[in-house]
Amino acid sequence: MNINKVGVIGSGTMGIGIAQVASTNGCEVFLYDIDFERTQAALENLNQLLRKLAGKGKLTLEEAEGIISRIKIAKNLQDLQDSDLVIEAIVENKEIKTKVYADLENIVSAQCILASNTSSISITSLSSGLKNSERFIGIHFFNPAPLMPLVEIIPGLLTDKKLPEVVYQLIKSWKKTPVIAQDNPGFIVNRIARPFYGEALRIVEEKIATPEQVDDAMKTLGNFKMGPFELMDLIGIDVNYAVTTTVYKDYYYDPKYKPSLLQQRMSEARLLGRKTGKGFYDYSENAQKPIPEKDEELYEKIFMRIISMLINEAVEAKRLKIATDEDIDLAMQKGVNYPKGLLAWGKEIGYEKISATLRNLFEEYQEERYRQSPLLKNLK
Ligand code: NAI
Repeated sequence: MNINKVGVIGSGTMGIGIAQVASTNGCEVFLYDIDFERTQAALENLNQLLRKLAGKGKLTLEEAEGIISRIKIAKNLQDLQDSDLVIEAIVENKEIKTKVYADLENIVSAQCILASNTSSISITSLSSGLKNSERFIGIHFFNPAPLMPLVEIIPGLLTDKKLPEVVYQLIKSWKKTPVIAQDNPGFIVNRIARPFYGEALRIVEEKIATPEQVDDAMKTLGNFKMGPFELMDLIGIDVNYAVTTTVYKDYYYDPKYKPSLLQQRMSEARLLGRKTGKGFYDYSENAQKPIPEKDEELYEKIFMRIISMLINEAVEAKRLKIATDEDIDLAMQKGVNYPKGLLAWGKEIGYEKISATLRNLFEEYQEERYRQSPLLKNLK
């Protein structure tokens, strides 16, 4: 199947990025948003950015102009009628999204693939109201879409069995790293990554260490590019909190994903990280980043606690076959920049050591949060 004409709905953070990716790879893009001016502004920003990059020699001026000229602003949904694929990236609201699909189904051809970039709504639930649910699939880009290689492809229960492969090949041809994920809350990355934030927050809430110590421990012992608190400040503490809350609720309040009160308070105080100038760190002009007090024994404890929780989560995803082992490891490296895949890392550290760390935590806290994946004890 040839996919040359791509409709993108929503010209916010994700939509304009997805439009750029499709256009860079030669597709003709029709970009629609209810807010016409927002689309114009988004395209103008992209135009300026690409020209700046061309000025720096990152691409030629012709390439930059080509990317811009292939993106057409759609004045209404009707303008998407010739699309081979439509990717929706509008507000994270099920009712609003399904209303758009119902309108879209009457406009596009019967062969057109319909996709959502949702991070948290079940693909199956989004598809079930369609006349043809088989053509619907999740295509989940990471922010910023033009830079992050990972794309999760999520077939719902009603999706045509051949569709994931078609989309996989397309995303690969767009020079991205596709992985196929089962339709469950958080898909691969947003589920497995939860303890990176959650356990770090707990360590700080319990006054075991400071945010800068946790960040330093994860960077020096784990080679993570950013520590959990630096990363939360970048993502936005409110956004990160909302993802955790959704995953927690959607797994029927599994204590493993329980959100942090500290994070809730920070959201309430609008200490949201870089975007408001202050989060776990201060980003104001003359602010000095606190220097962590190094402590070898404490750092080892912090690192083992967080990495064991992460590896346990990856092992549980493996047990439930949420994705293949290769995709589970690839997803964390290409979607959130982990230095290694977690399954490979578990093997390297030794699954027995991971299991012992979790057993100690469970004994100490008597909380289900620290329960082990039943598969963990069988892994070597
Ligand atoms: P955004 O708030 O930046 O943009 C959403 C756009 O949708 C706005 O321009 C708005 O005018 C438009 N819109 C709202 N209702 C519409 C309708 N009925 N028809 C047409 N346009 C409409 O949102 P963002 O961050 O780009 O997110 C979009 C989707 O991508 C959401 O489903 C989100 O969960 C998902 N996502 C977001 C990521 C992120 O880091 N921001 C990462 C991966 C997925």
